[in-house]
Amino acid sequence: MIYMIPNAKLKIAGLNFEYSDIKNKSHCTALKNVNLAVSEGEFVSIIGPSGCGKSTLLYVIDGLLKPKNGQIFIDGKPVSRPGRDRALVFQSPSLLPWRTVLRNVTYGLEMLNVNKKEAEAKALELIKTVGLSGFERYHPHALSGGMQQRANLARALALDPEILLMDEPFAALDAQTREEMQLELLRVHRETRKTIFFVTHQIDEAVYLSDRVIVLSGRPGTVKSMIWIDIDRARPMSAKKTAKFHEFEDLLRNELETNREPLTLSSAS
Ligand SMILES: Nc1ncnc2c1ncn2[C@@H]1O[C@H](COP(=O)(O)OP(=O)(O)O)[C@@H](O)[C@H]1O
Ligand SMILES: [Mg+2]
Repeated sequence: MIYMIPNAKLKIAGLNFEYSDIKNKSHCTALKNVNLAVSEGEFVSIIGPSGCGKSTLLYVIDGLLKPKNGQIFIDGKPVSRPGRDRALVFQSPSLLPWRTVLRNVTYGLEMLNVNKKEAEAKALELIKTVGLSGFERYHPHALSGGMQQRANLARALALDPEILLMDEPFAALDAQTREEMQLELLRVHRETRKTIFFVTHQIDEAVYLSDRVIVLSGRPGTVKSMIWIDIDRARPMSAKKTAKFHEFEDLLRNELETNREPLTLSSAS
């Protein structure tokens, strides 16, 4: 199934990805014929069983991994390498421990030789955007997990990427912090209008954040279904308690469950 979006921000066409184990001369097909298009400013989540290729898909889009076949297009142009138009956010914050929050956020700009004053002004603004004002001079170890992930988000936003690729960024956080971060991310999305491609294994998180949720099949991952979450974008936490929200959760749970293959003796050996 190819869903057509004219002028898609991001397009993934006929993507196949294989990991090869040179020593054992074996291959593992992680992604098979993935076709997807994402509009500018859209918030898309990817869910699917563990090992179905969600992270692999993000790395291919980022350009860290090269696909066997298929192509990634941004604004209609093929890309095959990492670039400033995309930023990856991982589950564990990739902060430099010896630098303060401010210096972590300015780091990417310093690498591009942006002048110091300008870099600092930009970083301070982003630190405010992610709700970390007052913690500019703290080092990462002095921050909670949630605050570190906020700093990490500011760091990813510093180079003003057009697409944010997020790989289960809140998975390591406790339930309450996770909810705060979800609210924060919705605000950042509203303010920056970035295109966000978000991997999660939590169904409620996918429904709460997204314009559209894409379900991948079990390995090799391919697009199994996509569901548009037509709930108003102004989503207070209480939106999670509505009947409509629960209907979307049930729908996605069903999609995931029909994914699961029955256990057989041969797969256990
Ligand atoms: N470096 C690698 N070498 C070989 N196989 C890998 C490697 N990384 C991931 N895989 C395999 O590719 C499949 C997809 O992995 P991954 O993208 O991490 O899945 P997910 O993020 O959905 O859990 C898995 O079956 C995994 O075992
Ligand atoms: Mg993963």
